[in-house]
Amino acid sequence: MESTVSNIFLANRSKNIRSSAIREILKITVKDSNFLSFAGGLPNPNLLNKELLNQSMEETILFSSEVALQYGDSSGYTDLKKIILEKFVLDEGVKLDSIMITHGSQQGLDILGKLLMDENTNVLVEDPVYLGALQAFSPYGPNLISLPMEFDGPNVSELKKILSEKKIHCFYTNPNYQNPSTITWSLEKRRAVANLLDEFGVILIEDEAYKYLDFSGIIYPSIFSYRKEKDLTFVLGSFSKIISPGFRIGWVIVPEVYKDSFNRIKQGIDLNTNQFSQIILTKLLSLMDINEHFSKIQTHYRNQKNQLVELLNHYLPEVKFQDPQGGMFLWVEYPDVRENELMERIMEKKVVMVPGNEFRLKESDSAFFRMNFSFLQGSDMEEGVKRIHSVYRDIIT
Ligand SMILES: Cc1ncc(COP(=O)(O)O)c(C=O)c1O
Repeated sequence: MESTVSNIFLANRSKNIRSSAIREILKITVKDSNFLSFAGGLPNPNLLNKELLNQSMEETILFSSEVALQYGDSSGYTDLKKIILEKFVLDEGVKLDSIMITHGSQQGLDILGKLLMDENTNVLVEDPVYLGALQAFSPYGPNLISLPMEFDGPNVSELKKILSEKKIHCFYTNPNYQNPSTITWSLEKRRAVANLLDEFGVILIEDEAYKYLDFSGIIYPSIFSYRKEKDLTFVLGSFSKIISPGFRIGWVIVPEVYKDSFNRIKQGIDLNTNQFSQIILTKLLSLMDINEHFSKIQTHYRNQKNQLVELLNHYLPEVKFQDPQGGMFLWVEYPDVRENELMERIMEKKVVMVPGNEFRLKESDSAFFRMNFSFLQGSDMEEGVKRIHSVYRDIIT
């Protein structure tokens, strides 16, 4: 790094922070509306019932403004925690005060980095891994280690080998429709990994951002539910993909023994999660039929996914991907091209997707791209695929 004035004063931890290509790409697409974006993991805001949202906002202002306009409990607004426990936490034995509300699950990841990771702490992550987790953890200087993945979860014998050779402190995973690979763990692997983590005394950070986005409404049991060592497991949830990222509300189920430390870190960051947002969301969740909403978004995203799959099969039959039954992405391999070249050339045609190497600890020679299907609608999606097709054809012929 150059020694500019800002670098001289920059703390070492700030030099470790990874940039996010996705945020950079989002900036470009926001500035220029002609861009067709397969990049962000953006839910469709039109799927939310705006009348109920309006009613929740009105009721908050009319009847709850004294609470909504104040500081709140740093662990979160109790009525919201009650709804989370009742409707979104399916694991047995979780208590109300184990739930900590955060500014998105992204803040939960940052707090867990601060709570659990020192310089060179061995942290195991999936390959590929959610980029936001790398951004959250890297300032704390952990030694990140990649775990090879298979179509139904981790390679269990490789996991056992790593755990036997190195003292692994924690394992971060996103086991449902993983961002970006779309891998969803089988029940056998959930059980096998839970047993191994118990045997080797490893902390699990289980990120369930896409838990409710299975297109048929299947809800997979958490790895947490298979663990005996419940005190070594943190589970993160989020309203971003099922309600809206605009609220910036997520939660973490925190083991009893870490609750106080978690809370103190949260206080140091922001005292409490946006109280106004928590109360509007609480009212909204109590007015809406969440199961009806789930089936609405699941059906919509299934149709969107099918459309992108059909377009890729039609225009780009060479590309390879697993056809996911949930989530918001396809993880697509483009044979015979270099990732950077394809990325640069499609951007000239005003299309974006996220290059696979952004999600890796070590660069891969294969060209993978994460393609989001929840955002672009109808003819825009087709136009985007056509533009990628013309660039790809140009490169490989
Ligand atoms: C796997 C995963 N975890 C966490 C997040 C952060 O979500 P939130 O909006 O709740 O901060 C995302 C966002 O895309 C995600 O994909």
